Amino acid sequence: MGIKWREELAIGVEEIDNQHKELLERFDLLLTACKQGKGSEELLYLIDFLDTYVVSHFGDEEKLQRQHNFPDYEKHHLEHEAFIARVKELKDRMYSEGGVHIDHVLDANKMLLDWLLRHVTVKDREIGRYLQKHS
Ligand SMILES: [Fe+2]
Repeated sequence: MGIKWREELAIGVEEIDNQHKELLERFDLLLTACKQGKGSEELLYLIDFLDTYVVSHFGDEEKLQRQHNFPDYEKHHLEHEAFIARVKELKDRMYSEGGVHIDHVLDANKMLLDWLLRHVTVKDREIGRYLQKHS
């Protein structure tokens, strides 16, 4: 299964859409690496990427929501916080369990798939719809 960007995911703000595209590309890299038996190696790169990504992307997305008085801002922010906590939890487990194990890779896949299906394709698209109506 490959993860590909679809135009219907666009919220209409280039900066945010590019950040979402990048996340999808990173997820696709992890899946490809898994098929080649290199999931553990790729997960280390992915965790590094996510560390920066969650701060910059969520920051940009939330700033946009505040600028446009997006009504679901608080709930959306909590979802971002929950994702940050999941990434941290996974990272902590990798350190405390002495490196990357197969179950960390499986958890990362599940975490990203969940995020894609429940957040990027649902909650983030609501921002796009709101912006279309209100800007
Ligand atoms: Fe979001």
